[in-house]
Amino acid sequence: MDIFTLGIETSCDETACAVVKNGRELLSNVIASQADYHSVFGGVVPEIAARMHVEAIIPCMSDALEKANLSLNDMHAICVTYGPGLVGALLVGVSAAKGLSEISGIPLVPVNHINAHISANYLAHPDLQPPFVTLVVSGGHSEIINVSDWNTFEFIAGTRDDAAGEAIDKIARVLGLGYPGGPKMDNIAQNSDSSRFAFPKPSAGNGLDFSFSGIKTYALNVLHQYEQRNEKIDIPSFAASYQSAIANVLSENAVEACLQLGYNTICIAGGVSANSFLRERIAETASKYQINIYMPPLHLCTDNAAMVAAAGYYNYIKGIRADLSLNAYPSIQHMKD
Ligand code: KG4
Ligand code: ZN
Repeated sequence: MDIFTLGIETSCDETACAVVKNGRELLSNVIASQADYHSVFGGVVPEIAARMHVEAIIPCMSDALEKANLSLNDMHAICVTYGPGLVGALLVGVSAAKGLSEISGIPLVPVNHINAHISANYLAHPDLQPPFVTLVVSGGHSEIINVSDWNTFEFIAGTRDDAAGEAIDKIARVLGLGYPGGPKMDNIAQNSDSSRFAFPKPSAGNGLDFSFSGIKTYALNVLHQYEQRNEKIDIPSFAASYQSAIANVLSENAVEACLQLGYNTICIAGGVSANSFLRERIAETASKYQINIYMPPLHLCTDNAAMVAAAGYYNYIKGIRADLSLNAYPSIQHMKD
């Protein structure tokens, strides 16, 4: 029997709903992005995000069901992101999902946003099987995760301070590229000299942890020095060198984690996994060790609900359920699945 899951995602500034069949087949994927409203503020304003989710959530869900040619009653599970993320934003999705589940009798399935990002790969790659290592890199996360089963995730290493996306967005903002700066910085740096500027390695000592606050401060200092000297900086090469330094350490540490676990597969996930420098570097580094590399297509790297519906499918078949006491959590420490 086919299993249909409805995914609901409101953890940050995208209101998203999607329908997935058997955890692997995307039937619809609707995203109402608020990015333009936040860009004037140079970042996501939590209260605006929550209010906009309230307006968008029901039309978004109706649209997702309509595009999938199915109705709510055809769904086997209502899967919702309950963290980590902005609490006010998350609560909109969680409340909508609870209400729907309560009136329809369809099981409510909680989904962790990080697990959802990893699961974007399940939609894109029918041959992908655990175990594997995933590098999750986004605006809020930079983590290496051991995925020993579809929904069994173990934290291996992470950032001690800023997330990779945060470090990229901050420098993009200072360069005047706008918000969100990641895709813009990636774009502007194409075909530029990535060895023009030398940056310190953004690692946190000998282990597999990252630290991006040092490289961010270093970049800010270089920009100040140019400004003080009234000298024009080669922005594309600066952006290429900066992203390259970040991509190098992310790739090296993910490959090292994979080798230590004795696995032969790495996935990347999260908004920063759309970065062309990272995609190229990790593919190169992995191939040196005959490690397979899987990446989501660009439209499934950033926040969406298809990944929530995919992760939700595996939670559903494992019997993971939530009831009306489900709450929203800003950080991963308080989450169960
Ligand atoms: O996964 P996501 O949509 O939201 C979070 O869960 O944080 O990730 C958003 C982050 C932002 O920092 C954005 O600038 C970054 O992903 N991003 C990129 C690229 N596309 C999105 N960073 C670098 N290069 C890109 N092409
Ligand atoms: Zn995300």
